[in-house]
Amino acid sequence: MEQNKLRELLESMSIEEKTDQLLQVSGIFYEEDGVITGPANTMGYTEEEIEQAGSVLGSVGAEKLKNIQREYMKKQPHRIPLIFMADIINGFKTVFPIPLAQGCSFEPEMSRRCAEIAAKESAASGLHLTFSPMVDLARDARWGRVMESTGEDPYLNRCFARAMVEGYQGVHELREKGRIASCVKHFAAYGAPMAGRDYNTVELSERTLRDDYLPSYKEAVDAGTAMVMTSFNTLDRIPSSGNKKLLRDILRGEMGFKGVVISDWASIEEMCNHGIAQNREEAARLAMEAGVDIDMMTGCYCKNLRKLIEEGKIEAALIDEAVFRILNLKNELGLFENPYKDADEKEEKEILLCKEHRNEARRAALETFVLLKNEGVLPLKNEEKVAFIGPYVSNCEIYGAWSMFGRPETTVSAEMGIKSRSGINAEFLTGCAMLNEFDGLEYMKGKGEETGNESEQLLEEAEEEAQKADKVVLFLGEHRMQSGEAASRADISLPECQMELFRKVRAVNQNVAVVLFTGRPLDIREISRYAASVLVVWMPGTEGGNAIADVLYGDVSPSGKLAMSFPYCVGQVPVFYGQFATGRPYKEGTDEKYVSRYLDIPNKPLYAFGYGLSYTEFQIGKVCLSASHMNREGVILASVQVKNIGGMKGKEVVQLYIQDVCASVVRPVRELKGIKKIELFPGEEKTVSFEIREEMLRFHNVDMNYLSEPGEFKIFIGNSSETENGAIFVLE
Ligand code: IFM
Repeated sequence: MEQNKLRELLESMSIEEKTDQLLQVSGIFYEEDGVITGPANTMGYTEEEIEQAGSVLGSVGAEKLKNIQREYMKKQPHRIPLIFMADIINGFKTVFPIPLAQGCSFEPEMSRRCAEIAAKESAASGLHLTFSPMVDLARDARWGRVMESTGEDPYLNRCFARAMVEGYQGVHELREKGRIASCVKHFAAYGAPMAGRDYNTVELSERTLRDDYLPSYKEAVDAGTAMVMTSFNTLDRIPSSGNKKLLRDILRGEMGFKGVVISDWASIEEMCNHGIAQNREEAARLAMEAGVDIDMMTGCYCKNLRKLIEEGKIEAALIDEAVFRILNLKNELGLFENPYKDADEKEEKEILLCKEHRNEARRAALETFVLLKNEGVLPLKNEEKVAFIGPYVSNCEIYGAWSMFGRPETTVSAEMGIKSRSGINAEFLTGCAMLNEFDGLEYMKGKGEETGNESEQLLEEAEEEAQKADKVVLFLGEHRMQSGEAASRADISLPECQMELFRKVRAVNQNVAVVLFTGRPLDIREISRYAASVLVVWMPGTEGGNAIADVLYGDVSPSGKLAMSFPYCVGQVPVFYGQFATGRPYKEGTDEKYVSRYLDIPNKPLYAFGYGLSYTEFQIGKVCLSASHMNREGVILASVQVKNIGGMKGKEVVQLYIQDVCASVVRPVRELKGIKKIELFPGEEKTVSFEIREEMLRFHNVDMNYLSEPGEFKIFIGNSSETENGAIFVLE
């Protein structure tokens, strides 16, 4: 539809029609199976409000959504279609590894393919928009939503933000077949809740916000994201859904965002709980003035905006602006011409979980596993007698907390993956499944930690099997619902019953490899010390079990690198590589008193950002710079030679870090500025080069200007954030 026609449409709408367009309700108001992803209050909506709400969240299925749309449009005075939205986070029916695992691939192009497939499948099932990607920077492993982020680094987050937005939306028109709109979230800084407790206050300096947290949202905006979701948290003591500076000045003004802003579930009304709105009417006014267009799951807008206009407390033009943005999005999706877009029952049957998508899910999982330790147990050999033991050996719920449309019946467990190989000598002890018992809050009261008679017997069986085997692979970890939204944990270690299993098995067999399923970095000190090998597989998705078998038996060498540091213990959290130099730096291993250190634990994480082993070995040569000085328009080429000196084909992630040695404000000890993932055959060698330009050296200086300052810079190129392989250049 032409823009002038869209304007005419807006002008012909009644005020109720307009305010109802701003309402988003859950699919449960239209059908039984709608998914609930927030507090289930009764909002007291009238039948008319439901009949005219502008969008629906959490319902899927081509036939169902076509029916809802058909019935809805019959009653819609201006035949304005609904938009169907849902959380398609790491895949729809074909589930890919969780976003944190995707971050560990250090390969944004892989995430682009995952997003493309997720878009195709969900579009065929009638969806128009996904609440993804979540680009919140995450540095606190206690926060359950780290699983939905791509980790602790601003540069890495930016790369994935762009790849995912473009993967969902494409780079041409939203109305293209197989494309859905993306919604970047949660604006802003939702990833920094105090003490890692979800929904908690965020306290950040404006400089840290701008240097570290905002760049990934900006990248998503530049990539053309159609929608932005506000965050639940406060920032500088103002909840985001009522934060005019954040939404109007920074998002729309500075970043140039022209699309739709949606609140998170009930976050407009929650401004009453925050104590900055007396009631829902005031909350509606604050949110509208701040620039929130859609009210997700409260009645604040539809019940109050009309009155606020009539009383002169809010300008009608603000409502028009918001409604127009929503109509515009519907138009860009082509819904006025075809309100069902790509919803197609036949195609749904053909493409959901099809072979091609499953293959891509397996390929993706293979890029995300991180080998933390390997003292000879992995890879396994066919002839070796291996005992596969532990609560996750036969578990199919390995797709992460946000995969609401993934199903255990369509997921390959580790046991299934391993059993599908021929000629192996494997023994499976699957009874330990009960050691992952997790029942919401019950877990905190000790359930899952009391082992009881039945589990005593299981432990004995495990011991017996371990004794008879050449090697043991133990599948341990977190239950999928122990991470995700509203799943913060103060203790990030494994349940005691799993540790008991580990100790018993390790006591009788030293060749133990631990395969760790998790949605967050965990405290694995003991495991890391006593297991011979540790492989982190996160929540690997639909094809997880096949990919695990591929890696355990050495068809593929692990190539993932940590996108988030594994802390030594929870007392270090938040711990991340890009910290700031203190005035009293500590040199690890020394015993000085008046320096910045802990008395009882190291400062360094157990495994740092960027770290990850392979079955083969790579040699990275010295950093070679094309020049030692650079002017502001110039480019320096930083290169290294990388050689596979091991006996197997493998992939290595070559990482470029830069340190600004002296500046007008304290700078991080180093910052990631480039990544290149390469594959090498044994004996093969490649030159890897990075271009260094002045823009890469910018930050918010002492006057809050975004620029670079002349002086000395250190460059590090290696295969983890701890590399010391460096060189120096000067920016003139
Ligand atoms: O998209 C989510 C958001 O990330 C958290 N609250 C609920 C939303 C809709 O399900």
